[in-house]
Amino acid sequence: MREVIFDSAREKFFDEFSHSWDTSGPSPGTDAVLTFLRRLHIDSDKTVLDVGTGTGLLIPHIFSFHPARIIALDLSAGMLEKLREKHSARFGARLVILQGDVHLLNLPDATLDIAICNGVYPHFRDKTLALSQLRRVLKKEGVLAVNHFAGREFINSIHGSSSHDLIRQDLLDPATILSETIAGCGFHVKELRDDANEFYVIAEKI
Ligand SMILES: C[S@@+](CC[C@H](N)C(=O)[O-])C[C@H]1O[C@@H](n2cnc3c(N)ncnc32)[C@H](O)[C@@H]1O
Repeated sequence: MREVIFDSAREKFFDEFSHSWDTSGPSPGTDAVLTFLRRLHIDSDKTVLDVGTGTGLLIPHIFSFHPARIIALDLSAGMLEKLREKHSARFGARLVILQGDVHLLNLPDATLDIAICNGVYPHFRDKTLALSQLRRVLKKEGVLAVNHFAGREFINSIHGSSSHDLIRQDLLDPATILSETIAGCGFHVKELRDDANEFYVIAEKI
């Protein structure tokens, strides 16, 4: 079996960004965030995994739907430190902060209701391995959402012009192609959008 190695190259890249992420990264409006999250049917007994949570842009918005627990996962200790400063005191034990790589997901099988990948999917170096790990930890009929609060062309222009070789390769496929990849990993795709302002694919574990 092939050994899977923690993605320390992208960890370093995002660590360097962690101090400026909140002022230089995307800042979608509350309405756009809540409209997206409503599609995921988050409610009071749900456990939500926020994959590539960064400094926790989505955390207060996800908590506004009163889930039981959010697991905030990220490669970068620097990003998670910022998240901790902003959100730990307010959300206490219902917010679990986990440094890790989605490819080596250190969570038990079939325990999560919803996995959100916001602004992170193109950075997964092995898409089918990442999707199979997410499928493993989701319960049956658990929801997977891949989302960007911007259009695909914009995302690909930012990544494609990065000074970092790896990031230049981190491009987003059209949603129809991504849907086929997701379906091939054992999900049923329920909704997708790929226009100038929005990109998402929402699927359910079969
Ligand atoms: C572009 S930022 C988006 C952060 C946040 N979701 C947001 O919307 O503000 C991508 C984040 O994903 C993390 N990341 C990248 N690859 C990852 C992986 N394989 N496993 C876990 N986190 C990852 C990075 O460290 C970074 O914090």
